[in-house]
Amino acid sequence: MPPDGQLPVLTTPVPVAGAIDPLRTVHNSVYSEEAFALETERLFRRAWYLLCHDSEVPASGSFLRRRLGGDPVLVLRGADGAVRGFHNVCRHRGCLVVPEERGCARALVCPYHHWSYSTTDGSLLGVPHEEAYDGSGFARGDFGLVPLRCESVHGFVFGCIDEQAPPVAEYLGPDVLQVMESPLSRLALEVFHVESTPFAANWKTFAENIRDGYHVPFVHPWLRRSSPPQPYTLLGNHHAVQQLRLAREAVTEEEWLTTTSHPLPGMEGGAGYVLTIFPDSLIIVRSGEVHTMTVTPLSAAASTLEIRVLGVAGEPPEVRRARQACYDLWSARQPPEDVEVLQYQQQGLASRSVQVSLVARGGDATAGRRGDDNRLRQFWAGWRAYMGVTANEVPPDPAVTR
Ligand code: FES
Ligand SMILES: [Fe+2]
Repeated sequence: MPPDGQLPVLTTPVPVAGAIDPLRTVHNSVYSEEAFALETERLFRRAWYLLCHDSEVPASGSFLRRRLGGDPVLVLRGADGAVRGFHNVCRHRGCLVVPEERGCARALVCPYHHWSYSTTDGSLLGVPHEEAYDGSGFARGDFGLVPLRCESVHGFVFGCIDEQAPPVAEYLGPDVLQVMESPLSRLALEVFHVESTPFAANWKTFAENIRDGYHVPFVHPWLRRSSPPQPYTLLGNHHAVQQLRLAREAVTEEEWLTTTSHPLPGMEGGAGYVLTIFPDSLIIVRSGEVHTMTVTPLSAAASTLEIRVLGVAGEPPEVRRARQACYDLWSARQPPEDVEVLQYQQQGLASRSVQVSLVARGGDATAGRRGDDNRLRQFWAGWRAYMGVTANEVPPDPAVTR
C-alpha cells in the first residue's frame, strides 16, 4: 500500500511511436470531450459547412432543418426566390421555431406561443396578445429570427456561423471552384434521396476515413477488383480531389450497364471524382449519379452521417431509377461497412494505455495514390490551424493555448 496521501501510478501510456515524426502521429486526446468543446469554438463555429442542396428548398416557404456548430439552424427559401439561413430559435422563449425536419409554410409559427416569422427575411410578423408588452420596450423589429450566413455554390448550400470568416468562395479556394465547374456548374441537379445514419464515434473518425484509401480493399473488398487506386491531388485550404475509375474489364456487363446507361451530361461512363471539402464533406461525382456525404458532430463520441443523392431535375423516372441503382451498386454498401470499423476504432481510441496512432504512410507531395496517408496529414494540418495547436493533440489545459 502506498503511504497515506499518495496515489500509485497504475498505468503508463505506451510511448510515442518510435522514431516517427510526431506530425505523422495522432494523440487520442484529440477525440476527448475537452477537444470537442474546443473544436466547437474554434472549428465548428468558424468553418464553412455543406448544409444541403438548394433543390431541397424548392418553393417559396420551403425550409430544412440542420445543425451547425451545435446550434439548430434553418435553410429557407423566401418569396423572392433567395435561399437564406437562420438560427432555428424563437426569439420569445427559445423554442425551436421549426421542429420538423423539412417542409413548406406561408409563415413559420413557433409551436409554443405561436409567434410567427417571415419565410423571406425572418422578421417577426405576429405576436398573440401583443398589447401585454405595452410599456416594456418591446418592438417587433428587434425580435426577428437571427440570420445565419448561407451561400450557394452551383446549388450546394454552405453555412457558417462566424461573421468574420471569409466568403465561401474564398474558403473553398480557386482549386475547388475549378473542380466544381465540371460538370456540377452545368447541371440543374436535384436531391432525390436522403439518408441519415447515426454512429457511435467521433466525427473525425469519419473525416479521416474519407481520406483513407488504405482501408478500401479490406473494408470494401468488392471495390478491390472494380475500382483500381486512382491518383489524388491535395488542393489549397486543406481540400483535395481524387479521380474515380471503374475497371471495365473487372466488372460484369450488368454492373457496367447500371453505371453507364445514363451518364450525366458531359461525363464519360465509369469516370468520376471525389471532392473532399475540409473538414467533413464529400461531393462524389460518378458518371451515373452525384452524392454528398457530411457528418454532424453530436458529442465527442456520437455523430450523424448524412447522404444526399442527386440527379438531373426533370429527368424521366427510368433515368432516376438508373441513378438510384448506380448509387446502390457503388456507394450504398460503403457507409455501413465504414461505420462498423469506425465504432470499433472509437472504442480503441478511448484507451488510456495506448494513446498514439499513426498517419505515416506515403510521402508529402501534393499528389499521391489511394492508400497513403497524405490526405489525412493534410486534414490534420487544417485541424491544427483552426485549433491553434502545433501537434495532433489537445494540450491538457486548452486555456494555455487561447
Ligand atoms: S417560445 Fe416561441 S412563441 Fe413562445
Ligand atoms: Fe470506406
